[in-house]
Amino acid sequence: MKAGGQARNSTAGNETRSSFSSRLGYVLAVAGSAVGLGNIWRFPYLAAKYGGGIFLLVYLILMLTFGYALIMSETALGRMTRRSPVGAFQAFGKSWHFRLGGWVNAIIPMLIVPYYCVIGGWVTKYLFEYLRGSTIMLADDNYFHGFIAESFGAEFWFLLFSVAVVLVLLAGVKHGVERVSKVMMPLLVILAIFVAGYAMTRPGALEGVKYFLIPNFANFSWMTVVAAMGQMFFSLSIAMGILYTYGSYMKKDVDIEKSTFQVEAFDTGIAMLAGLMVIPAVFAFSGGDPDALKAGPSLMFITIPKVFASMGFGTGAGLMFFLLVFMAALTSAISLAESGVSTFEDQLGWSRKACTLLMGAIIIILGSASALGFGVLDFVAPLGMSLLDFFDFLTNSLMMPVAALSTCLLVTRVVGLKKITEEVELSSRFKQKQIYAFMIKYLAPIFIIIILLSSMASVLGWISM
Ligand code: PHE
Repeated sequence: MKAGGQARNSTAGNETRSSFSSRLGYVLAVAGSAVGLGNIWRFPYLAAKYGGGIFLLVYLILMLTFGYALIMSETALGRMTRRSPVGAFQAFGKSWHFRLGGWVNAIIPMLIVPYYCVIGGWVTKYLFEYLRGSTIMLADDNYFHGFIAESFGAEFWFLLFSVAVVLVLLAGVKHGVERVSKVMMPLLVILAIFVAGYAMTRPGALEGVKYFLIPNFANFSWMTVVAAMGQMFFSLSIAMGILYTYGSYMKKDVDIEKSTFQVEAFDTGIAMLAGLMVIPAVFAFSGGDPDALKAGPSLMFITIPKVFASMGFGTGAGLMFFLLVFMAALTSAISLAESGVSTFEDQLGWSRKACTLLMGAIIIILGSASALGFGVLDFVAPLGMSLLDFFDFLTNSLMMPVAALSTCLLVTRVVGLKKITEEVELSSRFKQKQIYAFMIKYLAPIFIIIILLSSMASVLGWISM
């Protein structure tokens, strides 16, 4: 076992990086950033839309093979170079390939955080309405669409959430927020178990449980695979440079493989719990109407309030739920924005404050477009999507496959499996070495290229998804 001190002093450049104190610390930090709106808001609506049980099955398979290989690679590369993505790629070469690989990874979080803050704003609005006791009003079928179509309101709550993110970064109280959120995370799990239990026992809900858990091949479409892969990237924070950065803070004696499995298990557990909260409720309260199942980004905001409106202490439960989701969204948004800020700091050499303000400006400009895309800007529909869906598609279905491919190529063509293995084995035996090698060399790149081509074909209207 290498001494912890080595990690603290080992530097690739001149800087000395601080590091996580233990595996538990590392797993908690990464899981804390992984668990967010991706699990609670995005996973249930995609699972509902793209086939239920069959989506879940495809997701689990992808996560255990593909997701595992990519997390291992990004973490090991980050720890090896002690750099964030742009620097990590350039540690191996200076040609444009390396620049491109690093930048694709680094730009993705900058494009995600603006629309992430729009959803954060929706959560904040619901939190506020539960505080005012508007439990019945929120459960109305048309409430949510009315709210997002009314541009001023959606923009206001988006700005409020974004300003909170930027202020936390400017005030340097990020760690304080993370500490609070670590206490709240277990509460979120407990409340989610309770709400899922309640939702699943409503009359008619069992059909929803079956729809979500039992794969039915009749519901399979190619889009199930594309959506499951995008979701895997989003939820596990893969292919967006984040894990390079986390890896760069990881000590050399932390077992990369074990921590990868723990993060995956935790993240997927929460996503499944959210699925069990939302999908059975669609069946109980909307009779499993296919239109309701395909509601998309609005699903959680339409369905969950019906659950609260139907139970005793619904206002208190709704308040608690949206408060906990708010904290999870806030910490994730902070860590996404932070990644943008540190890329700017490293690459532009500006002060931290200037870089934070630049990130804030990007959030406000792009995020406002997404927030207003359901109201005054609804005539802007790139590829026939709302602006929010467009940014989501652009990052998850087009850019992340490219970022993941660049990591695969960096590992197999430049760094070599041998060096990755050495890095992993600094702490422990690399148990799944053969599987890892097969994934990263063959399966992952081929699969990514197929996904990328089909996403592009759908953009060009050659196939419908
Ligand atoms: N994985 C987070 C989620 O599921 C999103 C995120 C990505 C957060 C990257 C931080 C960093 O919501």
